[in-house]
Amino acid sequence: MTKRFLTGEYNRNIPDAVKKALLFCSETAGKAGIPIFLIGGIVRDIVINQKNFDVDITVQGNAIEFAGLVRDSYPGICELRETHQPFKTAKICFNIDNEWVKTDLASTRKESYPYPGSLPEVEEIGCELYEDVIRRDFTINAMALSLNRGNFCELVDCLNGYEDLGRGIIRVLHPNSFIDDPTRIIRALKFSVRLGYKLDKKTHALMRQCLDSGRFDNFAGERVKLELKQALNLNRAECLTRFINENIYRLIDTDISHFENAGIIKKIVNEYRDFLGTEDNTWLIYLSAILENPETMENLYMSGKEQAIVLGAAALNEKKDLLINALTRFEIYEFFENSEPESILGFLAKNPGLEDKAGLYLSELRHTTLHISGDSLIDMGLRPGPDFGRLLRETLKAKVNGEISTLEEEIGFVKLKI
Ligand code: CTP
Repeated sequence: MTKRFLTGEYNRNIPDAVKKALLFCSETAGKAGIPIFLIGGIVRDIVINQKNFDVDITVQGNAIEFAGLVRDSYPGICELRETHQPFKTAKICFNIDNEWVKTDLASTRKESYPYPGSLPEVEEIGCELYEDVIRRDFTINAMALSLNRGNFCELVDCLNGYEDLGRGIIRVLHPNSFIDDPTRIIRALKFSVRLGYKLDKKTHALMRQCLDSGRFDNFAGERVKLELKQALNLNRAECLTRFINENIYRLIDTDISHFENAGIIKKIVNEYRDFLGTEDNTWLIYLSAILENPETMENLYMSGKEQAIVLGAAALNEKKDLLINALTRFEIYEFFENSEPESILGFLAKNPGLEDKAGLYLSELRHTTLHISGDSLIDMGLRPGPDFGRLLRETLKAKVNGEISTLEEEIGFVKLKI
């Protein structure tokens, strides 16, 4: 194996605070004689010069004991936040110049899958690094970077991940990889789209075989959801197109609605991003184009709110004739009233011709509020009753339609109606 030191890449891509934290880990490991390595995604991203803030360290030994050693060596700087005894993992946090650096520590472990799609079972903890890397998904994610004194920054690349990164290839480590863990099919899609890489020929064939076999009754739907969310949140049309055309959807159902124009969703999301909440729900807009069946959403372990967004888009689509025929601003308002912006964009993906009306609602109509309230009506001498709702609604209608605007106009409008 060629010896490769990634000192330059490490220095360029790891922020200073993280470097300090890693140095503390390295010092502790050196004193205790425990080998430790950066592992997985962060190593991949160091090689390709991309920032990655998920600091994953694998400890050839017991990571919980190691976490305790680091905390004891750097009191006031390092805190032990979490431990997970069965897998012997720990989370520690360093306070570096008033910035918190989170670090995940895992013990090297050998795993096996009791049945396809199950969570893996741990066979050995604290094993050789090689056993830990060969349980992983792709060669590009199976590299380690030494944090040990004698060879700091030496790349440990038993499976030729470095070469595959250079050639832009995603390759599984063994033929059963997708059968063991079908979520890797979506991970392959995610990395392929995100990095612009191709699946190696054999890997592609294994993926097809796995999808054709339909052997994922027990698959962990929740993890599929997380990966699909990350993949579709990339907001790349290619992701949805490949999800459909390469039959990857079979992971969640035997059939789904087909959708030809994923490019329109990307355009819509880019155009209306500012109207969406802080949580990135782009993936739900994409899913709205292909999912209608609540059972499929259950298979994906979608939460009530997530399902409501997708079902909301489907409900709008069902009654779309009302919008096509809407002539007034209030008719448009009523059509979309109480819909989540993501549902509206999901609906728009299927009905791009209705963009003017949807855009008007999103940018303007939905923000319409009245100056007056029930209390104002009482102040005007009216007795609370069923008419209140009607009066307020009529005032809202006039306001949405642009007939009135100010407080005085609202009051004048109510007076005319009573
Ligand atoms: N991994 C795996 N099989 C999976 C999920 C993860 O083998 N189904 C391994 C890979 O080695 C991966 C590492 O666990 O690199 C960490 O997983 P995760 O944090 O999910 O992925 P990253 O590779 O860091 O991807 P991202 O950059 O998208 O966070």
